[in-house]
Amino acid sequence: MLPFSAEPVYTRSVRILTSEILEKKGEKVELAGWIDSRRDHGKIIFFDLRDREGLVQLVAAPDAGEAHKVAETLRPEWVVSVKGEVKDRPKGTENSNLVTGQLEIAVSEITVLAKSEALPFPIDGDGYEIDEETRMKYRYIDLRRKRLTKNIRNRYKVIRFMREFLGERGFAEVETPILSKSTPEGARDYLVPSRLYPGKFYALPQSPQQYKQLLMIAGLERYFQITRCFRDEDTRGDRQPEFTQLDIEMSFVGEDDVMGLVEEMYLSLVKKLYPNKKLKLDGSGRIPRMSYDEAIKNYGSDKPDVRENKDDPDELAFLFVVDFPMFEWKETEKRWDAVHHPFTQPRVNGVEDFKNKFQSDPSSIKAKQYDFVLNGYEIGGGSIRTHDPELLSAVFEAMGNRPEDVQAKFGHLLQAFRYGVPPHGGVAPGVDRLVMLLEREPNIREVIAFPKTGDGRDPMMQAPSEVDKSQLDELHLIINKEKER
Ligand code: AMO
Repeated sequence: MLPFSAEPVYTRSVRILTSEILEKKGEKVELAGWIDSRRDHGKIIFFDLRDREGLVQLVAAPDAGEAHKVAETLRPEWVVSVKGEVKDRPKGTENSNLVTGQLEIAVSEITVLAKSEALPFPIDGDGYEIDEETRMKYRYIDLRRKRLTKNIRNRYKVIRFMREFLGERGFAEVETPILSKSTPEGARDYLVPSRLYPGKFYALPQSPQQYKQLLMIAGLERYFQITRCFRDEDTRGDRQPEFTQLDIEMSFVGEDDVMGLVEEMYLSLVKKLYPNKKLKLDGSGRIPRMSYDEAIKNYGSDKPDVRENKDDPDELAFLFVVDFPMFEWKETEKRWDAVHHPFTQPRVNGVEDFKNKFQSDPSSIKAKQYDFVLNGYEIGGGSIRTHDPELLSAVFEAMGNRPEDVQAKFGHLLQAFRYGVPPHGGVAPGVDRLVMLLEREPNIREVIAFPKTGDGRDPMMQAPSEVDKSQLDELHLIINKEKER
């Protein structure tokens, strides 16, 4: 036998969670987590231990020997593992605000796993009052606060619900490329320079719009993806440069099928995950629909807030806005642009009808578009697509593209449409805005783990940042210093 075994030794943690001590009265247990707070009462030291489930009170009595000595040194946010016995708290000292408030742990052993410096800001409150720059610089600490932990966990529950709901209905989640080509969603693209092809760039997708349509040609019929989208536009409370969509596409459907699916999903999601919310529905328990013209006329907005009582933070007023115009005049570019995107189907009878209508009055053409609205926010948009390649080319040209531009920008899609394209349509609800409204947060940064600041920076990673000259050289780039801000 060799003196050392060649077999590696694996260890298993015997740690339990704070929530599990409810079942362990009288037993010796091992817990691990962060010191949430410490209170000394004479020689007895009390401290709260925090783990992913919650808090529990630990007591180190003077007769606990070495454990008491270690307890004296502990500071907030140190990481420890402790062993001790689960006991009833003495009468009158129970804490009804805490799930574990009837119990405490009489500790017999404490191991310090990591020390912590004093935190840059407190984490016991909501944190809205703390300067954003500081919160973002130390986002990993900010995320320890209860409010944000809850938001991030509930966001996952919402996403899990969506995945299961769609999976049960025959949808397949498909990943589509991030390194891609510009697709028009009305914003500026983020570009990635190509090392292998000097002077050429990938674009990060503003949405997977064209890929999901191509998946319909591929015969998928029912696609979804929880996907990141990238749009280089100014950040606002409900806008981030990268955000998450629940992207959906379906074949052989009309507007009612897509809206019906979204309606069923969102109503059952709210009922299951947020049962205390008050849903404002129409007389037959459905999400109401309103035409674009009516919304503009009565509310002066294409995303009207139709809540009965706007002071009630738990009221949810979903709404579908339908019958959008297909085009709007873009004064800056002196051309007609698609209100949603050019892939949306205009309500016309074929190419000739489209051309006639466009020639006489472009603004009169309606689109098979639906927007999904919640409490005055646009939480989703979608449409039935044009699947006739001739009509699609006519729409591109109506928007000011010369035939050769159409070929260069969309030739791949028009080509694909020649090989048996099923009628199809879809929708893309924004996940961040939904979770923001469900969690009653004032902006989407509160429901994204690592968002950008209001002016589009990441103060923690210090992005965007300069890169080495050698990297620029490899990418065939020269920075024009004169043009820098
Ligand atoms: P659209 O551009 O309307 O449609 O986007 C769909 C939804 O995505 C959310 N959203 C955003 N959320 C946070 N930050 C942003 N910068 C941001 N931009 C958009 C909104 C919006 O309603 N491909 C089409 C969908 C389709 O036709 O199927 C699309 O992306 O909630």
